[in-house]
Amino acid sequence: MTRGQIPVAARASGIEYAIRDVVVPATKLEAEGHTILKLNIGDPIAYPGLPTPEHMVEAYVKALRDGHNGYSPSYGLPALRDAIAKDEQRKGWPATSDDIYVCHGVTEALQILFASVLCEGDTVLAPGPHYPPYMAYPQMYGATTVEYRLQPDNGWRLDLDDIKAKMDDSVRLLVLINPNNPCGSVASAREIHQVLEIARDYPNCIVVADEIYDGLDFTGEHASVASCSNEVPVVALNGVSKVYYAPGWRIGYMALHDPQQRLLLVRDGIERMLRSRLCASTPAQLGYLAGLEGDRSWMEGYAARVVEQRNICVERINGIDGLEVQSSGGAFYMFVKLTDEKWAQDDKQFVLDLLHEEHVLVVHGSGFSPELGRGHFRIVYLPSTKVLNDAFDRIERFLIRHR
Ligand SMILES: Cc1ncc(COP(=O)(O)O)c(C=O)c1O
Repeated sequence: MTRGQIPVAARASGIEYAIRDVVVPATKLEAEGHTILKLNIGDPIAYPGLPTPEHMVEAYVKALRDGHNGYSPSYGLPALRDAIAKDEQRKGWPATSDDIYVCHGVTEALQILFASVLCEGDTVLAPGPHYPPYMAYPQMYGATTVEYRLQPDNGWRLDLDDIKAKMDDSVRLLVLINPNNPCGSVASAREIHQVLEIARDYPNCIVVADEIYDGLDFTGEHASVASCSNEVPVVALNGVSKVYYAPGWRIGYMALHDPQQRLLLVRDGIERMLRSRLCASTPAQLGYLAGLEGDRSWMEGYAARVVEQRNICVERINGIDGLEVQSSGGAFYMFVKLTDEKWAQDDKQFVLDLLHEEHVLVVHGSGFSPELGRGHFRIVYLPSTKVLNDAFDRIERFLIRHR
């Protein structure tokens, strides 16, 4: 009797994560001996000059040496929950440590939140383009992600009319990613208030505020969504990965802002889910605690470096025939428009051909939204100036060659 392949669950086989999917052919090229210029991954540690601050690393190492190698409480170390609550208070809302749940990164927080809220037929309304897990995970619970439009010709600002048009009672989670990945746009307090005004009419809707890049706002306009809401429940997401430059530690959190005490059932579900997966890494939590409690003046130098890199990229990109970009207001991404018709129609082919011919790795825009990201690609602008300039020279050469 011949035996075929053991079936895979459709919920797994259907998952795509554009950012890492393009790494597969790049790794193959590297194995063949090629050097790839990588502008693809949103990991600040992958680029020179932005290391995890020393006092945080010391605290992590000390935690290991002091024997903090056991499980932590499921919702997080009390001292860390307390420090996070104080940090959220600083952002303008009355968080308590009981509102904070520490996870293995925002990514785990999302999985737990989706598992705790979403049922068959529910909708997640997320920005288009968006960070891919907002599309990939809800399907696992029978829910669907619908995208609202960010305006490509207006700095990728929220299209409030589109949000309004797409809201209905099936929308259980309305997502704001602020600053946005992949576009780098920042929503202002005024816009956030308008979104909350829309959400108010839907009593079963929670606003999800992914603020993982909030310390990388260069507009001065950023506001915490929870701080703007005195009625609509908000789940704020944040962590150590971007603003504290330690994504490999896998520590993040969700903070529940529940002004009208309407999240009691959801909170119970979240707590059950958290207990069932034990806890987040104990020594890594102590490293994050050192970051929250320590001096933060180092952040200014890091931010200045990021802004400098951004300015170099905007100038270079807009000097290349076939590319257009608007300056980004936050995070460390740029979403670049391909203006040559051939590539505007097939950004994934652009990314693959560019990789194979010029050994430059970027991420196709359609991986962040099949419709609203099409005809674009995302770069991370953290590589050294030398690598960036080399990459832009190669992209320009590639575009000319294919005309
Ligand atoms: C918008 C957004 N949210 C969350 C994450 C992942 O966060 P974490 O490392 O805490 O899982 C990323 C990573 O790129 C992101 O861009």
